[in-house]
Amino acid sequence: MSANRPAVLFVCLGNICRSPLAEAAFRLEAERVGLDVEIDSAGTANWHVGKAPDPRSIAVAREAGIDIAHFTARQVVQDDFRRFDHIFALDRKNLADLMAMMPPDSTAQVSLLLETIPDRKSDDVDDPYYGSADAFAFTWTHVSQAARLLVERLARS
Ligand code: 4NP
Repeated sequence: MSANRPAVLFVCLGNICRSPLAEAAFRLEAERVGLDVEIDSAGTANWHVGKAPDPRSIAVAREAGIDIAHFTARQVVQDDFRRFDHIFALDRKNLADLMAMMPPDSTAQVSLLLETIPDRKSDDVDDPYYGSADAFAFTWTHVSQAARLLVERLARS
């Protein structure tokens, strides 16, 4: 991380459905406004480490104009708390798990992604894994709305 180039990490459970979409939405938005930022995503669980995103996430991102087929799932590590300025949890369970593993020398601001959206405060981005294609479209709506506001906020700071 550096003062000029913020680093942002999005975290869900498996890093194959929601956080790759949050990463993609944030990449699109940062690119649109020319914000120089380091962006990554990770999962609290290790179940899908090394795998590509869920095909339904790949399809939703493709429709929005970004290819995420090459993304590779990874698990959160303690160094993420020193490397990233902001860590956004996709739901409250992810947030609790992050808080539980946060090292004492963490420099990251850890919060819930939808806190970015004024009227959504403590809302979760629900897990679409067992849902329909609609659930993934709904995830995209949420993460892209948050990405727009977040990028605006970072661009001002
Ligand atoms: P994600 O979704 O946390 O948004 O990546 C899930 C992916 C996989 C599983 C659960 C949620 N799973 O049980 O394997």
